[in-house]
Amino acid sequence: MRVISGIQTTGNLHLGNYLGAIKQWVAMQNAMEADGGECLFFLADLHALTGNVTPAELATSTIEMAATLLAAGIDDRSILFNQARVPAHAELCWILQGTARMGWLNRMTQWKDKAGKNRDGASVGLFTYPVLQAADILVYQATHVPVGEDQKQHLELTRDVAAKFNTDFGVELFPLPEPLISKAAPRIMSLRDGQAKMSKSDPSDLSRINLIDDDATIAAKFRKAKTDAEPLPESFDALAERPEAKNLVTIFAALSDRDPQSVVTEFAGQGFGAFKPALADLAVSVLGPIRERLTRLLDDRGQVGAQLARGADRAGAMAAPTLLAAKRAVGLQV
Ligand code: TYM
Repeated sequence: MRVISGIQTTGNLHLGNYLGAIKQWVAMQNAMEADGGECLFFLADLHALTGNVTPAELATSTIEMAATLLAAGIDDRSILFNQARVPAHAELCWILQGTARMGWLNRMTQWKDKAGKNRDGASVGLFTYPVLQAADILVYQATHVPVGEDQKQHLELTRDVAAKFNTDFGVELFPLPEPLISKAAPRIMSLRDGQAKMSKSDPSDLSRINLIDDDATIAAKFRKAKTDAEPLPESFDALAERPEAKNLVTIFAALSDRDPQSVVTEFAGQGFGAFKPALADLAVSVLGPIRERLTRLLDDRGQVGAQLARGADRAGAMAAPTLLAAKRAVGLQV
């Protein structure tokens, strides 16, 4: 089993990233010790170039996010690096651009959402973004990719690219990777709008809990979270039409590793005046220690950078044979 996943280096990590992805990464890293196999986790700094990021933001965000992953529990049992330091990703991406089809990329919902109506003004990188993501995964012949639900379509594209490449060139080079989508928190929603996912790009900071938020900010954001006037029901299924309430219960359950039904049972009949402070206390107890470790790590950014460079050496060595095989398969003389 070889696990890989990445995160774009724009803005801050938030609770959706933590519950949807990073918590799974840490669990897989811990499980892998017993089961054998490797975990690779990376900062997708090349992907970040497809948005509107300034050089200063990109540089800071890469180190801060790496420090956040370390604070959340990623350690030397995993290979942690930034994508730009392993040129094999970009090289394989170019080769796979010969395999991916325009029609496939045109169907990507992330492309449609991010480009909006002004497609002519969008960067080419935003369009070919999923091909780089396919290269990230395939260059390690990875078998499993832990991600939030929003990345499912990109994983399907990765499988299509892998299958077409193998068929076109008559090789068995790329395994078809499986997405691993968190059951507890596939899609954490905004605290201001139960129909929108919690996201780094939401202009309202009140819409998300950032992993760097202090205890008072976390409590205030949950206090101000949009809800309704009804008390919590007996059954979790009864929350289907109450997206904001459902989201808060899902967050509570995911943070405490509990079944959402058991959370609803505990709070049945109570209003959000009682539920929100309990949720805030729980979030502070989970996120507080991560933030404290993060603050210490940020005092020594050089050390974090050095750790990323060591990870890139290990990742580069793992990627090299696959990249060479892909080049030979397409007839490049190298
Ligand atoms: P990114 O940076 O948007 O998000 C990182 C991870 O967090 C998950 N996530 C969420 N999960 C639940 N609820 C949410 N509200 C939420 N918001 C984000 C994402 O699903 C993701 O797992 N394209 C990727 C980065 C990437 C990548 C890769 C991932 C580049 N190459 C190769 C896997 C493999 C992205 O932008 O994730």
